[in-house]
Amino acid sequence: MNDQAEALRNLVSIREQLSTPKATRIITVTSGKGGVGKSNFSLNFALSLQRRGFSVLLFDADIGMANIDVLLGTPAEYNLFHLLKREKTIWDIVQTGPGGLKFIAGGSGFKDLIRLSEEELEYFADQIGKLHGHFDFLLFDTGAGLSKETLRFITAAEETIVITTPEPTSITDAYALIKMVKTMGHEVQFRLVVNRVADEKEGRQTANNIQQVASKYLNLELPLLGFVPDDSHVMKAVKRQSALFLSYPDSQANRGIERIASAYLAEEKAEGGGAKGFLQRMRRLWK
Ligand SMILES: Nc1ncnc2c1ncn2[C@@H]1O[C@H](COP(=O)(O)OP(=O)(O)OP(=O)(O)O)[C@@H](O)[C@H]1O
Ligand SMILES: [Mg+2]
Repeated sequence: MNDQAEALRNLVSIREQLSTPKATRIITVTSGKGGVGKSNFSLNFALSLQRRGFSVLLFDADIGMANIDVLLGTPAEYNLFHLLKREKTIWDIVQTGPGGLKFIAGGSGFKDLIRLSEEELEYFADQIGKLHGHFDFLLFDTGAGLSKETLRFITAAEETIVITTPEPTSITDAYALIKMVKTMGHEVQFRLVVNRVADEKEGRQTANNIQQVASKYLNLELPLLGFVPDDSHVMKAVKRQSALFLSYPDSQANRGIERIASAYLAEEKAEGGGAKGFLQRMRRLWK
């Protein structure tokens, strides 16, 4: 009971620090290898943060590939395409999915930001800048690997969660991505999530492997945010097109993600840079 009461007090105090006015924190979720569980993690992490009293906007930054709306089974009426083409404003493309989750769909069938004109890109960043103060968290779910777009989202974020699985190929690719960002000279705060682990030991070992190499060769600390068990409920939820958080809340994988959300909030400090910081970060999306 005492633990629960204290946890609640902590949450309330974090909530108060972050809320008046809201300092929107930006988190990017990425990976080296594809298919490691970024979109499922992002979606259920967003719902977990929301259940803990925070407002979250989940942004499908895998541009041109509809992920989030497919996972949610909620076809988006408008998506990033409409924003990029200046047909809609940012508020028109914010959709509400099951569980009341606010999200922006990536759209499908069109490609990168790079091909847009300067004017279109400025409109894009200006519109995203309008989100500041309206949400506690802005969560970018990126595509796999280090595309130019993904690098923009990584450098625009206050922190980047790198997802890996225990597979050696996934570990090597996660390290390669971190190394590339670091050697380009970007100061990015990375944290690890190990997905699809058989048990806690495997999660810790996987994280340890990357942490040791990153510390030795990049002089970089890579804190472990947590791990998510391998769980067939994830695939079941995907097939049902319903978020794991909503359809299998007691599943091992969902519990893992909920633990990560709690751990994340417990460590979270209200150090948002205010509107100016937010806009500067958003400018990195096109500069
Ligand atoms: N914890 C888990 N346990 C079991 N299976 C999982 C887990 N996480 C993800 N998966 C499986 O991996 C598949 C891919 O997940 P997801 O689409 O979230 O990956 P992604 O990293 O976003 O992929 P992409 O790189 O294509 O964007 C899911 O459909 C599911 O079948
Ligand atoms: Mg994805």
